[in-house]
Amino acid sequence: MGFTHIFDHPLIHHKISFLRDKTTSTPQFRQIVNEIAMLMAYEISRDFPLVTTTVETPLATTECKRLAERSVVLVPILRAGLGMLEGFQFVLPSASVGHIGMARNEETLEPEPYYHKLPGHVTEAHVIVLDPMLATGGSACNAIDFLKSQGATDITFAAILGTDQGLQKVHEAHPDVRVYLAEKDPVLNEHGYIVPGLGDAGDRIFGTV
Ligand code: PRP
Ligand code: URA
Repeated sequence: MGFTHIFDHPLIHHKISFLRDKTTSTPQFRQIVNEIAMLMAYEISRDFPLVTTTVETPLATTECKRLAERSVVLVPILRAGLGMLEGFQFVLPSASVGHIGMARNEETLEPEPYYHKLPGHVTEAHVIVLDPMLATGGSACNAIDFLKSQGATDITFAAILGTDQGLQKVHEAHPDVRVYLAEKDPVLNEHGYIVPGLGDAGDRIFGTV
């Protein structure tokens, strides 16, 4: 089985309770998605390599640690993944951004890709795929298949809510991909929605409910 990290942090639990609440407004929802994304970025970057560099402070010369010049590419899956982008960029401002456009067919629940744009250095970068919802795992797998077909080798998938079904699908197809979930929910309903979940993440982020 591949690597899964599920957050167990008071701030994350607190914020997710507001995402779940159907009375949370779109501006609040969008704000909280970004706050959670920022906290996730902090944890995901825990093992990023550091290099030693010499810095002149106003008082002395000292050795400091800085992130290695190893590029990070953030890849939100449109639409809902865009909601997590600002939070990640706040913590990783130098990251490049690729986009994958994908919509799940409401009947078959199969992902239907409609747009791809990646930076050229995706082959050398640590690629972090952003999508708030890992439901059946179809969209995640399709996005990861595409990234690998373009030469990406170092991939992390970050979602706010996920299910065992989604995790299993990703880990079986892509055991090398690290998956981070803010929380894991018990089931999918007959329409492929995560339950208790938070509803349609894209609709709630963009006010298309
Ligand atoms: C949602 C979500 C994921 C996908 C998850 O997107 O943001 O991309 O469904 O479902 P899966 O794991 O079963 O594939 P949706 O297709 O609703 O598009 P949107 O982001 O444009 O709302
Ligand atoms: N996509 C969503 O936005 N919500 C779900 O519960 C499942 C897929």
